[in-house]
This record gives sequence, structure tokens and C-alpha cells, in this order.
Amino acid sequence: MPITQSREVTAAARLDNVRYAIRDLACVADEVIAQGHKVLPLNVGDPLNFDFQTPPHIIEASYKAMRDGKNGYAPSPGIPEALEAIRGEAARKGITTVRDVFVTSGVSETVDLCISALVNPGEDILTPRPDYPLYSAVLCKLGIALNAYDLNEHDAWQPELPDIERKLTPHTRAIVLINPNNPTGSLCSREMLDKIADLARRHNLVVFSDEIYDKLILPDSNGDATPHIAFAAVAPDVPCITFGGMSKNYLVPGWRIGWGIVSGDAAAIKPYTEGIHRLLRARLCANHPEQYAIKPALEGPQDHLVEVRRKLRSRRDLTQKWCESTPRVSCVAPRGAFYAFPKIDIPESDEIFVKELIRQKHVMVVHGSGFGQKPGTQHFRIVFLPDEKTLTRAYAGIADFIHNRYPTR
Ligand SMILES: Cc1ncc(COP(=O)(O)O)c(C=O)c1O
Repeated sequence: MPITQSREVTAAARLDNVRYAIRDLACVADEVIAQGHKVLPLNVGDPLNFDFQTPPHIIEASYKAMRDGKNGYAPSPGIPEALEAIRGEAARKGITTVRDVFVTSGVSETVDLCISALVNPGEDILTPRPDYPLYSAVLCKLGIALNAYDLNEHDAWQPELPDIERKLTPHTRAIVLINPNNPTGSLCSREMLDKIADLARRHNLVVFSDEIYDKLILPDSNGDATPHIAFAAVAPDVPCITFGGMSKNYLVPGWRIGWGIVSGDAAAIKPYTEGIHRLLRARLCANHPEQYAIKPALEGPQDHLVEVRRKLRSRRDLTQKWCESTPRVSCVAPRGAFYAFPKIDIPESDEIFVKELIRQKHVMVVHGSGFGQKPGTQHFRIVFLPDEKTLTRAYAGIADFIHNRYPTR
């Protein structure tokens, strides 16, 4: 008889706090699907699940690269023509002090790599609350204690500066900005970027500016579509890594292409940049043939963006109208990306709200507590990518659910 190991194989304890609410809800959805129902997915930020199509010319570029034999390992930082195109993009964003650029397997890898290359045990980085859950997951993985600062819902979800000042420690190495924001859809104001820059200068912080949605800016209710402002353009001297990628702006989330743009004082950022390159080499390279689509994407026709923003504006307006007309729901109007983060006034947790909503109305949104949120508040995140007809049906279901479950006092 072969000897088999019988003791349970446990996962590392440092993973205990890793949350990925978006996928965790899938178990509840599976229950509902097993009962023969169709679930309306307003939970995953993948435009390709809806009526959005990848621009054909970038598919062609990637396919051509495969046919041309670009199927081996790429240089660790990325292929030269992609790096040059990303530098061009940085210039268009107004970033004048670019010190380095590198390509990664999605912004997910940029996040992991940039945090891993910076933070020692006992140090911390400031992350927004609510946040995109990858940040806290990477910090958990590294055994780094979370240090979250609040976004202020009463100030269009701007970072709450007094809270940042309170949370800063002598061991804080960086601050994360997500702009446009997931999950709130908010944009950082120019004034706020200046204030964060000032704070970073005073406390020697690196700024991680996640700008993956920078081309998906929507006009406000007055039609004002102030363009996106890159943090690194406002603060050319501050050590900053701007995160960008193809997933959202160019509708190829499955290709896993992202990048980092390093800017700031050259001497100050040099040792850290070398650390990043050590990790870039250790993981060999990002996806190779897809890198050939970066230049045509960034420098070629941008027509698809006009259509994407047109659809998103109409769906955002519909979403906002629904939030404004539904009892117990209120929402800061999203200005970017494709997320809304309404507040709900209910006598139970938003996690129960979301799970029961899936069970009873077969509509899937994500609970605010899955993104971290100010204690005592309840929210849910809507992905407003589906077409108007689907959204209308989903919102009717949610309104009905709220009406029946929480009769008005
Ligand atoms: C704010 C933010 N950053 C990073 C990512 C990861 O993007 P990628 O597909 O490039 O890994 C996402 C994906 O939803 C996101 O919302």
C-alpha cells in the first residue's frame, strides 16, 4: 500500500484577510443557476461580456505577431516599440519627467510588482477605502498590515485628507490613488491632486496612481467633461508610478497587458526602479505577441472610445436617475469608468442584501463591505455596462426587492 498524506493541507494564515467579494458571490449565483434561473450580472467589470467589441486593428496586430513568430519570451521590461508607445502616451498625459516604463501582465501585475519591490516588513502603504480589492490582497500576501484611508462620500468621494494625515506613520512608504475610481466612479479633483502631491513631498511617499480607466471619462450633469488629470503631470518631481493598461480602454481584459510609468526626481527614484527591474527579470516577461498591439492601440484610431463613452454616458444617466428615484438609495454620480456605488439605508448588512437579491431577483451586484467601506455605512457596487433594456429590468428587480424587504417606516 502506498503511504498517503492524511493531514489537511492548510493555506497560509496570511491569506485569511484576502477578500475577493466579486468572485465569492459566485457560489450564491451558482445555487440560483442550478435552480434553472438566469442571473443578471451587474458584478464584473468586463465590457466584453456586453455589447462592446475589441477594435479589429489591435486584434490583427496581435495575430500578426503570433504568425510572425513572436511567440518566445519577450525582453523582461517589454518590447522596444511598446515601450516607446507608452512613453508617447505618458507625454500625451502631460507627464514630463518619465524615468522608466515597463510592460506587465495586466495592471494586476504592475500593482503586485510595484508594492513588492517597495515595502519591507513593518512598513505600510496607504490604500483607499473603499478600494479595488487587489491592493489589500497583495498587502495580505506580503504580510503587510492594511492602512486604509477613507474616501469622503460627502465630497464626491475625494480622499479624506485629515484621515490620511491621521493614518500616516513613520513607516508609511506610499499612497495609492485610484483615479478614475473603482468602485465609486469618482474623479480626483485638480486641487486634491495638488494636496496629495504636497503630502507626498512632506512625507517622502511614493504615489501609485492607478489610471487604468483614464480614457473612460463621462460628462457631469451640466455636460462638463473636464478631461482626466494624471497625478504625475501635476507633480513631476514626486516619485510616482502611473498604472495604465489595455484591459478597459482598449477592451481586451483577457490579454493581460498593463504597464507602469515611473516619474519624479531621477536620483530619488533610481534605486527603487532597479528593484522593480529585478522582479521584472525574475518573472521573465509579460505576454509577448499581445505587446505588439500596444503601439497600434495607443497611436492608431481611437474611434471605439467615442462609441464606448456614448454608451456609458447613457447607461450612467439611467443608473443615476434610478438611484435618485428609488427609496433608501442615493448615489454620487459617477464621472469615470463604469461603476456606481450607491448608498443604501437598510437595517441589515449589505452582504445579506446582495445575497438575498441574487436569490430572490437573480440580479448580481457586489456589497460595499467587499471593497472595504466606512464602518456603519452600507453600499453596493453596480457595473453599468449592460444595455439599457437589461439595466432597466435589473433596476426594476432591485427596486421591487427593496420595497418588499424594507417596507417604508
Ligand atoms: C482599479 C483597477 N486597477 C487594476 C485592475 C486590474 O486590471 P488588469 O486587467 O489590467 O489587470 C482593475 C480591474 O478591474 C481595476 O479596476
